[in-house]
Order: sequence, then C-alpha cells, then structure tokens
Amino acid sequence: MKFTHLAALMLAALTTATALAQAKPEDQIKYRQSAMVVGARSVAALNAMAKGDVPFNPEQAQAHANVLANLTRVDAALAAYGPGTDKGAPTKAAPKIWSEPAQFKAAFDRFATASQALPAAAGSVATLKGALADLGKTCKGCHDDYRQR
Ligand code: HEC
Repeated sequence: MKFTHLAALMLAALTTATALAQAKPEDQIKYRQSAMVVGARSVAALNAMAKGDVPFNPEQAQAHANVLANLTRVDAALAAYGPGTDKGAPTKAAPKIWSEPAQFKAAFDRFATASQALPAAAGSVATLKGALADLGKTCKGCHDDYRQR
C-alpha cells in the first residue's frame, strides 16, 4: 500500500534525524569543545585586526566572521548540550545548563545573534570593533553562568 510505504519512509527519515541528534555523549562533548576552540581562534584573529596588531585583511575578516556565523547557525551547536552530556568525557559545562535550559538557550541565542551580525560588520575596522565588543559580552556572560573553572 502506497500510504504505508510513505509512512515507513517518513519513519525511517525521522529515525535517521534522531540518530544524528543523539550522538554519543562523549562525541557531543568533543564537538562543543572543538567548536569553542575554532570559534575562539576566529575571534582572536578578528580582534588582532580590530586592534591593529595585524593589518586589516577584508577577505580574512569576512572568512573568520563567517566561521562564527556558521558555527552558531548549525543545529549541532545547541544539540551538543543534549540530555546526558553533563558527563561521558571531561567537561567544564556547568550542571545549570540542564537545570535551567531556557536560560541557557537564551544565552546561546544572544551568542548566535552577535555571531551572525559579524559578517555584515567585517567590512571595516570601525564596524568590526563594535560587533566584536557585542560578541565578547555574550562569551563572558555565558562562561560566567555556565562554564566551570
Ligand atoms: C551559550 C554559552 C556559551 C557561549 C555564548 C560561549 N561559550 Fe565558550 N564554553 C561554554 C561552555 C559550557 C564551555 C565548556 C564546554 C565543555 O567543557 O563541555 C565552553 C568552553 C570554551 C572554551 C574551552 C574549550 C576547550 O574545552 O578546550 C573556549 C576557548 C571558549 N569556550 C571560548 C568562547 C568564546 C571565545 C566565546 C565567544 C565568541 C564563547 N566561548 C562563547 C559556553 C559558552
């Protein structure tokens, strides 16, 4: 029967999506830590240009801005803090992430908004400076509340 066949296909697709979302806790932890390292590297590169420590390079500024925008745009970014990922590998994620998920998501959303504003601001040192200051507040805000020392 056609309908049953379609339903089976849809179920298979759903199962695949669920399986992806439910990567092993240790893999989710590794992913979120790696994403932070990659993001921080791009922030450092942008900061160096904004401060004039290295010459402003519009192409590199755009590329690093896009890294941050995309790191926060993929569903994996927030999914990497899924249930059960408070352990499974060494992690500095604070238990509050799972006891107040709505507030944690709000902190993540502020980060995502600031990151996704970077590409449009990466065209000049002046606009980049402002966007980086906004972004830096979201890093610090979340680390103060949700990252253990
Ligand atoms: C929504 C919360 C949140 C925001 C926003 C955030 N971080 Fe993090 N960050 C964390 C948490 C939680 C950890 C610890 C993750 C773990 O150990 O599982 C972390 C870890 C890190 C690490 C260490 C990674 C490692 O394990 O080696 C670096 C570096 C880092 N963040 C940089 C940044 C920078 C730079 C920004 C802003 C551009 C930022 N973070 C924004 C929550 C956040």
